[in-house]
Order: sequence, then structure tokens, then C-alpha cells
Amino acid sequence: MTLSQPTNVPENDNISKKLVKITKDTFDFGILFIRVFHELLIWTIQKLLPIDLKDVSKDIVLITGTGHGIGRELALQYAELGSKVICIDINEKSNKETVDKVNSIRKGSAYFYICDVTNRDAVLQLADKIKNEVGYVTILINNAGIMPSHPINQHTEKEIRKVFEINILSHFWTVEAFFPHFIQAGRGHLVSMSSLAGLVGLSNLVPYCATKFAVRGMMEALSEEIREGPLKGKINFTTICPYMTNTGLCKKPKVKFPSILGLLDPKEVASAVIYSQRANKVEVTIPSGLHPFSNFCRVIPLKCSILLKDFIDSGVESDLS
Ligand SMILES: NC(=O)c1ccc[n+]([C@@H]2O[C@H](COP(=O)([O-])OP(=O)(O)OC[C@H]3O[C@@H](n4cnc5c(N)ncnc54)[C@H](O)[C@@H]3O)[C@@H](O)[C@H]2O)c1
Repeated sequence: MTLSQPTNVPENDNISKKLVKITKDTFDFGILFIRVFHELLIWTIQKLLPIDLKDVSKDIVLITGTGHGIGRELALQYAELGSKVICIDINEKSNKETVDKVNSIRKGSAYFYICDVTNRDAVLQLADKIKNEVGYVTILINNAGIMPSHPINQHTEKEIRKVFEINILSHFWTVEAFFPHFIQAGRGHLVSMSSLAGLVGLSNLVPYCATKFAVRGMMEALSEEIREGPLKGKINFTTICPYMTNTGLCKKPKVKFPSILGLLDPKEVASAVIYSQRANKVEVTIPSGLHPFSNFCRVIPLKCSILLKDFIDSGVESDLS
């Protein structure tokens, strides 16, 4: 009796500690359940209401890859909305054409800069120059990209490195250079071009797909880091995953059902990008229905998703054949 008494006291203590913990965890789980339900309700109501688009007329929008394609259309459409547009490209001639075109729509709204976005030092210097010459960038659009398309054994080491340098590493340099602008301005929005090839792996595009999956990973991780830090709520993130677009980037597109899923028009893609940014969407596909479809393909058995993929039979042929 006397021997068992001292050991019983801590045992009772342990049991009551466990009970307290179980009660607390059950309470926390109940609160979580109510909060998730509450958010779902808000989300459902918001889906039924018209979306309040952000005004971008006071924004300074920096777009990379404005010399051609989607980047050029983005520059034109942001200028039409009253934004100041900073046009960045490695190609002087084509970027000049874009700037002239934009300025013919709204005089003085486009600014011309030549920069290779893979050159970190050049990007950092550019950020200083823009701060002095135009002001703080409040919307950054990482758009410049390349798409060599052939089987993996025909990709050279140089080419693989270049795809990574342009399509993803450059995003690190622009973020490093322009997040201080966002901080100074007290707000910012980062938009990054991924691709449908960032949601689905496709043959002839192994390095390209790897970079476009990486864009989504970078954006999700970065937005988490911002959400957990002092800049919470001040910087927004939008990742765009377009289907093949008629810009020439995709040299040999393969489309089985052109009337249902034909090549997109770059104007239409640019307008969807701007809508998504203004509506503060997190990740979108263009067309939008491909996002739930891609999620569906991830949860059904692999053999079923392969059957669907083979039936749709869209992608790119080798640009070497
Ligand atoms: N076109 C498509 O089918 C398609 C589909 C999905 C996603 N995307 C993505 O959309 C973005 C734009 O594609 P696009 O079709 O308009 O391309 P595009 O080839 O028409 O234009 C790309 C522009 O980027 C510039 N550029 C390339 N390397 C650069 C560098 N190192 N520094 C600065 N500028 C550079 C080019 O000079 C060019 O003006 C890319 O990121 C692309 O991966 C395109």
C-alpha cells in the first residue's frame, strides 16, 4: 500500500493531462470545422456575386518578354486600362515596336528597357534604374519564356540550362529585384506564366514542363512565405497556365479537336491574364475549365487519365523533324 501510493499520484496526473489535451484538441478541431465551413459558405456566395476587379490605372506594371506574343498584348491592354507599362525584352527591335505601338494608343504610357532576364546583375541594376526613372513597380509579370521541343535525348546540355535560366531562374532574380519595390509601395502583385505543360507532363517538352511545374512550385511556396511573414496581405500572387497559344513559341502544335480546343489567340490570353490579376485569382488555366479537368485526371486511376490524354491527343511535335 505504502509502496504503490507515490507511483499512483503521477499516473493520475498523466491521465488528467491527457484528458485536458484530448478536450483541447477536440475543441480546436470543432473550431477548425466551423471556420472551414464558414470559408466554404463565403466562397459559394462570392461565386454567385459579380467579381470586383481591381483598378490598375495607378499601377506601374513591369512585363518581361514584351517584344512579342502574349507579353506584347499584355503591354497594350494594361496601357488601355491606364497603367504605366515597363516593357522588358532582350530583343531591342521588337521591343521598340511594342513600345511605339503602346505609346500610339496612350502617349507616354510605355517605358522601354533592354535586359536579358537571365542576367541577375543586369536585373538588379534595372530595378534601381526604374525606381529613379519611373517609380516603384507594383505589378510584376514574369512572362519571358522559350520552348525548345524535341525528345530528351536530343536536348543539349546548353539548351536545358537555357530553358531553366529563362523560364524559372530569371523569376528568382526579378523577385529579388522588385520585391523591394513592392515593399516601398506598400503593395504588389506577382503574376507568373506557367503553362498547361506545368500541370500535365508532355512528350518533346521534358525540360519545358520541368520549368513550368517549377513556376507553380515557386509561386505556391513564395506566397506561403509571405502569408506567414510581416508582408501578409500586401503581396498577391497569380499563376497562369495557358493552353497552346498562336504566337509561334509552339513551333509544331498537335491539335486533334481544333474546333473545341484549338490554338488560343494571344489577345484573348492577355485579357484572361489581366482579368485573373485584377480578380486576384491564385492559379488559373486558360481556358478555365482545364483546371478542374486536370485535377480530375489526378484523382482518377492512372490508366483512365492516360486513356483521356490519348483521346485528346494534343501537344507538340518535335521541332527537329
Ligand atoms: N505560346 C504558347 O503556346 C504558350 C502556352 C503556355 C504558356 N506560354 C508561356 O507564356 C509566355 C509567353 O509566351 P509567348 O508565346 O508570348 O512567347 P513569344 O516567343 O511570343 O515571346 C517571348 C518573348 O520573350 C523574350 N525573351 C526571351 N528570352 C528572353 C530573355 N532572356 N530576356 C528577356 N526577354 C526574353 C523574347 O524576345 C520574346 O519577345 C512564356 O513564358 C510561355 O512559356 C506560352
